[in-house]
Amino acid sequence: MTSTAFGHTRRGLSETSSTNDVAAAWAREGAPHGALVVADTQTKGRGRQGRAWQSPAGEGLYMSLVLRPPIPPMAAPPLTLAVGLALLDAARTFGASAHLKWPNDLLADEPGGERRKLAGVLTEMATSGMRIEHVIVGIGINIAAERLPEAVASSATSLWRVTGRSLARAEVLATLLTALEQRYDQFVREGSAATVREWKRESDLVGRRVTLRGNDMSHTGIVEDLDDEGALRLRDDAGVIHRLWAGDLQP
Ligand code: BTN
Repeated sequence: MTSTAFGHTRRGLSETSSTNDVAAAWAREGAPHGALVVADTQTKGRGRQGRAWQSPAGEGLYMSLVLRPPIPPMAAPPLTLAVGLALLDAARTFGASAHLKWPNDLLADEPGGERRKLAGVLTEMATSGMRIEHVIVGIGINIAAERLPEAVASSATSLWRVTGRSLARAEVLATLLTALEQRYDQFVREGSAATVREWKRESDLVGRRVTLRGNDMSHTGIVEDLDDEGALRLRDDAGVIHRLWAGDLQP
């Protein structure tokens, strides 16, 4: 099945600050559901928790999709999990041994066995009252890099490093758009519980002992569940259950 709505309307830029910012401005001007912004390089690529996303030209896919899901804002968080599943589908299509990391990283195994970050997702939402105006799904995938930028050299990997294949950005984009559209359609059609169920089936997170760090918090304990809204339920060592939406997960 080929992608239809996603990427049908698109803007391709040789250089921009952040495709998420371009897509958000375009969404405010009325960009349709599925509109796509892709850039060869970003000068201010952003990651989660205020981090930078290194975006060297010719080495990765830097893209943002405008989505207009017909759901209330409080139902939106698991959409990120659907995006993670789409990344997993696409990476596996290319032969990568890929794994989900909550909430929205994709890791992959290098030939030496080390598991490193292959892709990241930055989801940003604009609401008006109880309505979603738009969701911007920003995705960065390392494709061609043999050596990753210094700042992430020990923690990141690329499709080239994990598959040994030289993949064209257009091919990665087309495969990912198809996967994104399928996972998005399933999320809207069947509801978030189905997406969360599939996400849990693809991960070994539940039952593991982890530390979750955010800007102002840190919790260590056992993951009891990922609930139907996509929140992580973590029981800390004092027996307190925390319901968490974001953070950096460490083993
Ligand atoms: C993360 O892992 O922290 C999320 C990284 C998201 C990076 C992508 S690259 C395209 C889009 N534009 C941005 O500025 N960020 C996202």
